[in-house]
Amino acid sequence: MKLTRRNFVGTLGASAAVSLLASTTLVNRGASAQTRVESASKIYDGGIIQLNQNESARGPGPKTLEALHAHVNKRLGRGYSPDHVVELEEVLAAYYGVTRDNVLLATGSTPLLQGSVRAFCSANRGLVTAAPTYATSEGTARTIGAPVRQVIVTADGEINLAGMAEAASGAGLVYFCNPNNPTGTVHGPEAVEQFVRRVMRENPDTVLHIDEAYINYADPSVMKTALPLVQEFPNLFITRSFSKAHGMAGLRVGYALGQKATLDKIRGAWGMGDINMLGAIAAITAFEDHDHIDWEREENAQIRAFTVAAFEDMGFKVPKSQTNHIFVNLRRPAAEFRAACLREKVLVGRDFPPLENTHCRISLGSREEMEKAIEVFRRVLA
Ligand SMILES: Cc1ncc(COP(=O)(O)O)c(C=O)c1O
Repeated sequence: MKLTRRNFVGTLGASAAVSLLASTTLVNRGASAQTRVESASKIYDGGIIQLNQNESARGPGPKTLEALHAHVNKRLGRGYSPDHVVELEEVLAAYYGVTRDNVLLATGSTPLLQGSVRAFCSANRGLVTAAPTYATSEGTARTIGAPVRQVIVTADGEINLAGMAEAASGAGLVYFCNPNNPTGTVHGPEAVEQFVRRVMRENPDTVLHIDEAYINYADPSVMKTALPLVQEFPNLFITRSFSKAHGMAGLRVGYALGQKATLDKIRGAWGMGDINMLGAIAAITAFEDHDHIDWEREENAQIRAFTVAAFEDMGFKVPKSQTNHIFVNLRRPAAEFRAACLREKVLVGRDFPPLENTHCRISLGSREEMEKAIEVFRRVLA
């Protein structure tokens, strides 16, 4: 039998398919560009549904794709002072009513999370973070030997802001993910303002990071950016990502908004990478395409509603999510559920301690993917 990529995946089974997905580049080394593209799409044709990472199942909007295509030309040979990067800073600054000094671009928001921990934490100035929450800041703190205080989320999956404020005493950095990954919960503007004021009043030397990576998925009547507080508090900064609602995880663009001195410290502590021309033009187009972001938010909200309804119908509770993922209380270890789903070629989220024995994060795919995935969930949870 001739072993094509499609029946290769089928023959190996889902777990091998996962490693295959992870090593597509390696497997394809030496292949032509066309073969590589075909191989990648065959893996997806093989039926793997990826609900294990919070990316966008729909990718960039049509205007962004058009802008990308229009900029694939010989100009890409000139990139050491890349076109459109300064323009991206200007577009962001103008929209938020700040100056370019208040915007720090990075190749995704990840380097900003890493850089801020390196800038503000040390062996005697720790990190305060929630549990579970997005773990990059915590991981960086552990790497540099800074102590980590983790404040467990409430029974509703909400970040315990009072507990975080108490734990902030003497901390170098407080990381607050709003909306939170993995629980999907948000805090509204009053709660955020109260929290910021308390942390800043009681700990004037502590820096506070609010990660708003998922803000474009949140209902604007429920959640607002904390940006207005940045003007007042030099020790507060916000990060954003183009990897979520803008559908650009593969293009790696993120940014921080804050006061210049704070952003300079983050930039000085860790490399932010170089935004490339295509990433910049895509980010400008995606950022300005408000209609598409509104559509993406609504599409995701509808998919989230029917996915949550399916779990509730099966008797499982889901904390109220304002993101493109849900954190389901399956009353069983995530590892067990993950293995069962994997056998059916559906990938779901990793463990999120301390709730790994009860909850599993499921990223939301497209409508078609979720319809298929829900059939699998009903089978494995029956
Ligand atoms: C809350 C949060 N912040 C930051 C990131 C990093 O994303 P990126 O580096 O693609 O901007 C992620 C990625 O999943 C995330 O969930």
